[in-house]
Amino acid sequence: MRLSQQANHKASQATSGSSRDDGIVVRPFRMDDYDAVFALWRRCEGVGLGASDTRAAIAAYLRRNPGLSFVAQMKGRIVGTVLCGHDGRRGYLHHLAVSKRCRRAGLGRRLVDICLERLRRIDIHKCNIFVFADNVEGMTFWIRTGWTPRPDLRLLQVDLSGARSRKRSC
Ligand SMILES: CC(C)(COP(=O)(O)OP(=O)(O)OC[C@H]1O[C@@H](n2cnc3c(N)ncnc32)[C@H](O)[C@@H]1OP(=O)(O)O)[C@@H](O)C(=O)NCCC(=O)NCCS
Repeated sequence: MRLSQQANHKASQATSGSSRDDGIVVRPFRMDDYDAVFALWRRCEGVGLGASDTRAAIAAYLRRNPGLSFVAQMKGRIVGTVLCGHDGRRGYLHHLAVSKRCRRAGLGRRLVDICLERLRRIDIHKCNIFVFADNVEGMTFWIRTGWTPRPDLRLLQVDLSGARSRKRSC
């Protein structure tokens, strides 16, 4: 590849996403991905869905955290995704999911790494995640990819919606 071609390739990756030899392209999450992403989340055991995952709620989340959430696409199909946002102090990842047939090939790590890189660029230096206590595979993934449990902390929550949902979400 000539230098000018390399520069163009890099510029297009910055806006459209990153591609590797495995044919999987990681690119920013757009609202027209919603139906495929929601279907993937529904197929994934460790992902709890609730009122914060409706089309309108996800659209609001992406507007509030532009360019931080990603999808992975292979042959036009969504095979992975992650939501990423921040509150100006800490970053948060939600709903990391990789379709079953694409697991254990580094895609989960790749999706997380790109989010962490984007958080670093905007001077967010710590990132938190929520993992259901019974999600053994998820927990193994996070620990093996370098995340540290914080047994000195507990998560507490209050529901401001007034709704009594029995759905499991965080
Ligand atoms: C968790 C999840 C996203 C991991 O995706 P993935 O693409 O398979 O992860 P990677 O291939 O990047 O794994 C990185 C490392 O994590 C560890 N790991 C991942 N899944 C593992 C599993 N099921 N058992 C043991 N170790 C695992 C391995 O050390 C792996 O590296 P290796 O394959 O070289 O040994 C995927 O299993 C998933 O979608 N699970 C369901 C949804 C979920 O629980 N999401 C997390 C919500 S908190």
